[in-house]
Amino acid sequence: MEYLLKSGDPAGLKTSCLVVGIYARGELSQTAAELDQASGGEIRRFLKRGDFQGRAEQAQFLYDLPNISSGRLLLIGLGPRKEFTLNAFRKACARAATALNDSHAIEAVTTLPILESESSNLYTRLREAIIAGEGALYRFDQCKSDVEKRPRPIRKIGLFIGLQRKNRLLESAVLHGRSIAAGIHYARDLGNLPGNICTPTYLADQARALGSKSQRLKVQVLEEKQMAELGMGALLSVSRGSRQPAKLIVMEYQGSAADARPIVLVGKGLTFDAGGISIKPAAAMDEMKYDMCGGASVLGVIAACVELAPPINLIGVVPSSENLPDGDANKPGDIVTSMSGQTIEVLNTDAEGRLILCDALTYSERYHPAAIIDIATLTGACVIALGAQASGLLSNDDKLAGELLEAGIASGDRAWQLPLWEEYQSALDSNFADMANVGNRSAGTITAACFLSRFTKKMKWAHLDIAGTAWKSGAEKGATGRPVALLVQFLLKRCGLSG
Ligand code: BES
Ligand code: MN
Ligand code: ZN
Repeated sequence: MEYLLKSGDPAGLKTSCLVVGIYARGELSQTAAELDQASGGEIRRFLKRGDFQGRAEQAQFLYDLPNISSGRLLLIGLGPRKEFTLNAFRKACARAATALNDSHAIEAVTTLPILESESSNLYTRLREAIIAGEGALYRFDQCKSDVEKRPRPIRKIGLFIGLQRKNRLLESAVLHGRSIAAGIHYARDLGNLPGNICTPTYLADQARALGSKSQRLKVQVLEEKQMAELGMGALLSVSRGSRQPAKLIVMEYQGSAADARPIVLVGKGLTFDAGGISIKPAAAMDEMKYDMCGGASVLGVIAACVELAPPINLIGVVPSSENLPDGDANKPGDIVTSMSGQTIEVLNTDAEGRLILCDALTYSERYHPAAIIDIATLTGACVIALGAQASGLLSNDDKLAGELLEAGIASGDRAWQLPLWEEYQSALDSNFADMANVGNRSAGTITAACFLSRFTKKMKWAHLDIAGTAWKSGAEKGATGRPVALLVQFLLKRCGLSG
């Protein structure tokens, strides 16, 4: 989709369709009131009929209103004015995008960005309008043979900014929105691809393709042999049960001085998790193709940064493997030695994510990160605790945790912090090794993070458990692209670019 900023008088805008908001009980937004006046009260006359009340999710086209240059008016319900939060704004933009896509118009101007919501500013609303609209239009049909193409999809959207002049901040909102939306789209595609296509090798090829797009991005893929030389016994113990070779994907984005300490993102790239010898039940096992969504979010953030070019150094590390039962797979009770030298008793082979992450975390120490954040579909317990609303956040640094929580609120891609108190650590005691890879049933998300914390002692580290947020189950089954928006917001804020 093409986006451009538009200013001027709404009634005089030359476009195929003008999008206008209406609050609940037919309360006109300021622009709607202006258009109503210009047209001699046509909008109020229509609302009096009562079919359209301005409820959130409502959308209605009106045609050929007098003295309005645009032949179509698309009314979008905003819900009650008092409850018009930034999230309600996002929903209205999503609804507008689908209605426009269904219409015959291939180009439109939306006035929704000038609606005041909460304490959001115009930069944020422009950016979020693009992200929400693109998110609503997302379809995954790469694997369908007969896709019905829309005859006239929407191609170009003007974002109305009132009488205000264009300026660099507002232009940057468009670039940021487009880049973040593209990163989310990319992460969703990778997540939705099946395990037989999206293998560790496929992810590595994707990373290389990203690398060829930008001078600022260097991509390196470590093979099993190199991982063995580095002593990554935990990671390699997982891939031993699979015929697909493991890959350690390393992406180095340089946007700042060579010696500026980078942010490191480490994403779990488990392209299919059957559980290994501790095999999972059959029901919904297909969803374990999403077990690489942490890795996909890292690729998505890097993709966004390639377009957005933020002045920051960023490293993406994606350990990637399958977890399958096999004659050579990890067995419960096996003891493996991690790159850090610490030994691990594998009591449950289904707790494989932490085994591949721990070696990737140790590897990342070489970058002396300003902060390191791992992102992983790590525990079913996190789905139970927080559901699909918030990613679980655990950290050894409260300032870093605070920044991530704030980025989650600003981007609408929220996280919620869980404690990482010392007292939880003893759940990982092992009679035979330095630690077990699982605790007992209680506090599963926390004990998983406790495990990772033993490999990040030297760094400012945070962990995002995205098991509940990275995809949706049920009729709308599919990857969400979370937490790309949260992470890019965090990076933008770190370099002072978030409006
Ligand atoms: N990939 C799963 C976590 C998961 C489960 C994500 C359900 C989304 C939905 C992970 O590898 C796993 O299997 N974790 C185990 C850990 C347990 C053995 C301690 C789990 O959560 O059951
Ligand atoms: Mn597992
Ligand atoms: Zn897993």
